[in-house]
Amino acid sequence: MSDSTIPAEGFGLLRGKTGVIFGALDESSLAWHIAEAVHREGGRFVLSNAPVTKRFGSLEGLAERTSSPIVYADATSADDLGAVFAAATEHTDGPLDFVVHSIGMGINVRKKRPYEDLNYDWYLKTLDISAVSLHRVVRAALDAGALADAGSVLALSYIGAQRTFSEYSEMGDAKALLESIVRSFGYRLGQRGIRINAVSQSPTRTTAGSGIKGFDAMFDFAEQIAPLGNADAQSCADYCVTLLSDLSRMVTMQTLYHDGGFSAMGISDATVELLAGALASE
Ligand SMILES: NC(=O)c1ccc[n+]([C@@H]2O[C@H](COP(=O)([O-])OP(=O)(O)OC[C@H]3O[C@@H](n4cnc5c(N)ncnc54)[C@H](O)[C@@H]3O)[C@@H](O)[C@H]2O)c1
Repeated sequence: MSDSTIPAEGFGLLRGKTGVIFGALDESSLAWHIAEAVHREGGRFVLSNAPVTKRFGSLEGLAERTSSPIVYADATSADDLGAVFAAATEHTDGPLDFVVHSIGMGINVRKKRPYEDLNYDWYLKTLDISAVSLHRVVRAALDAGALADAGSVLALSYIGAQRTFSEYSEMGDAKALLESIVRSFGYRLGQRGIRINAVSQSPTRTTAGSGIKGFDAMFDFAEQIAPLGNADAQSCADYCVTLLSDLSRMVTMQTLYHDGGFSAMGISDATVELLAGALASE
């Protein structure tokens, strides 16, 4: 739970800034909350998601509320992404200050294929959608001359990149690659003052999150361990705003944990008591 005293009109942190936000599917999406927070802070943006989401997403409502055009694009297609950045710079009349990559999909995970028995075509697709797409997005933006100097690129990650969470399976590999791309591109983008970071977010109840078997157990476990509890989507969006703003202009190539302290914990009293109780009743 995160209480906030942020005023409805925000702080104007992104006034005058423009960008592209990838990955808002419905009201539970992290990108949806990020778009609302960016809008609150005065930023303008183009929304993008996979063409297939036209059929079952609800992006139009968000687009209308935030006065943002939508350009549908498959994040595995360089041509689609090129079209996004061409349209975005035309809409904003100049290069962009920020890009948010909030895209992920584990095909083997969805199809309940265990890690020991991965279907490699699906695995490559998972890596392509969830990690390589970040490279492709940045490259498309650079090729289109769409990134302003001193801009900010942000991707969403999970601690499964560093530690094994059994049911997270292939997505742990995808997040490890994603975070590596953040570092590799960060070096190169730094020459123009552009920064790139990954926010490693708590388990959050979204379409992608709940597609993982055992998600509720992962959610409850993290909730018990993290001193602040799990970070919700709203607080994630507020943190992302600071990373898109000039307030964080010297931060780059980082995996930044937004997880209520989970990543620095071993075990908590609540978990010790729970385990002790379970063992005693055996
Ligand atoms: N929910 C969690 O527990 C959690 C925790 C940490 C990190 N994340 C990460 O946050 C990001 C956003 O996920 P979310 O939890 O908001 O779920 P979500 O399902 O709302 O968002 C995932 C998005 O990826 C998009 N996508 C999938 N394939 C695509 C493709 N080929 N081209 C373009 N877009 C495509 C989907 O349409 C969707 O909008 C992901 O990177 C996810 O791994 C989620």
